[in-house]
Amino acid sequence: MSEPPGAPEREAVLRDPGFCRHSTGHTAVVDWDAATGWSQPHVEPWSDLAMDPATLGLHYGQAVFEGLKAFRAGDGSVHLFRAEDHGRRLARSAARLAMAEMPPELFVRACAQLVAADEAWVPGGYGQSLYLRPLLIATEPELGLRPSRRYRCVILAYPADPCFGAGFRPLAVTTATETVRAVRGGTGEAKCAGNYAAGLLTRTEAQAAGYDEVLWLDGLERSRIEELSTMNLFLVRRDGDRPRLTTPPCDGTIVRGLTRDSLLTLAADRGIAAAEEHTTIDAVRDGLRSGRLTEVFACGTAGVVVPVGRLGIDGEDLVVGDGEEGPMTAALRSSLLDVQHRRTPDSHGWLRTV
Ligand code: COI
Repeated sequence: MSEPPGAPEREAVLRDPGFCRHSTGHTAVVDWDAATGWSQPHVEPWSDLAMDPATLGLHYGQAVFEGLKAFRAGDGSVHLFRAEDHGRRLARSAARLAMAEMPPELFVRACAQLVAADEAWVPGGYGQSLYLRPLLIATEPELGLRPSRRYRCVILAYPADPCFGAGFRPLAVTTATETVRAVRGGTGEAKCAGNYAAGLLTRTEAQAAGYDEVLWLDGLERSRIEELSTMNLFLVRRDGDRPRLTTPPCDGTIVRGLTRDSLLTLAADRGIAAAEEHTTIDAVRDGLRSGRLTEVFACGTAGVVVPVGRLGIDGEDLVVGDGEEGPMTAALRSSLLDVQHRRTPDSHGWLRTV
């Protein structure tokens, strides 16, 4: 077991946290056993997970996770953002992988307990947060293929800047043409470890070619845009004088992003025309060539809202707008961060004070 870092080290980390470079040195742990059900959460010093090498979660991939954040408001108070919704999504991911479904209320309690213990680790800068990474993994040793009868939920905490950097520089994204991430009926919607592993080869190749991220197309016809490896995607089109916002619908193959959902809600609040609809990669290319597609941006808990400045499609690199961040992207990110840091009223009840 390692001792949690002391105050001087903490102050140094908080000055420049980066993305999850330094943990708080604590975890919250909740166990499930088929005989006894869920344990009560407890916070303990960070330590290795001791596992039998025959553990089901390691061999057959019963492992799902979440990413959620706690923010500091101007008055110093600390708030979890949409914790219950993250708990519901974890339970849904677990159900898809035949795992025990943690009650969202228990999930929120475990997260809140950890944030309370690590309150001093919540940075105060705009856009900064305490990033929580709950992992639920099967812990029973068994090589016969069946659902585990034991699970551990371990929640990690890190002071964090947004994962692509605090400056939100425009990303270069390329479209996956040879590989697919998900098909209808598969696990694409679940936040399971295997989905991220499945995209790694293509993403690593894209990064070696100078891109930041991969845009996945639908798994059957490879014609419709879906999401990036780590974030959902939005398009902004000129519709007469007004901008129109669209994002692919969640119909089983993409992660139901809570940042995505928050942005749709905030757009509606602000009277911005927004819709969940399919868009083909050909329509994206035409829109970028004609200039009618004015902005593309990605969003997720870790990354927040990041512009896409360059999009590779079939070997052609297209610049989005002038390659810089557009006004809708910047405005929606501010709207979201303003709620998260409680600069504007929490009219949807998304914050839970710790
Ligand atoms: C998040 O945005 O919180 C995620 O879980 C994506 C992760 C790959 C960084």
